[in-house]
Amino acid sequence: MTFESLKPQVESIILNAEKAVNERLLAICTLLETHVNYYNWIGFYFRNGQKEELLLGPYVGEPTDHTVIPFGKGICGQVAVSNKNFVVPDVAAQDNYIACSITVKAEIVVPIFVNGKNIGQIDIDSNTPDPFTEADERFLEFVCTAVSTLL
Ligand code: SME
Repeated sequence: MTFESLKPQVESIILNAEKAVNERLLAICTLLETHVNYYNWIGFYFRNGQKEELLLGPYVGEPTDHTVIPFGKGICGQVAVSNKNFVVPDVAAQDNYIACSITVKAEIVVPIFVNGKNIGQIDIDSNTPDPFTEADERFLEFVCTAVSTLL
């Protein structure tokens, strides 16, 4: 399945007002996990009010202990501060990385903006080394923009 063909499915999940916001976010995680074979853990983290920490939201994949991540810590915490996409082709080469599972080889985190403010992110772990391209970044930016309309 191509990213272009997933976009309308993302939009229809977002527009389904019969589901609660968190159900829609979970449905997006499930859609991505089902159709992109190198997306193995997909989750959302959101800023905890005005605190400088992220809280885990809906996700698909192995349960993680990292339900609270301080700003600056790990790949996610760095994106909370940098406001920029972070593509990690090889997690073993990162010093500031929080390991969730020994099977994870690579990670991508893309921030979500509401009114220009970084309020959270989508985080994807891959068990495949160096799988992410600019196409993933552009697609995940599309997903994050769509999600921002719910928040
Ligand atoms: N690896 C992330 C932590 C979250 S898990 O991938 C679910 C990080 O370094 O921020």
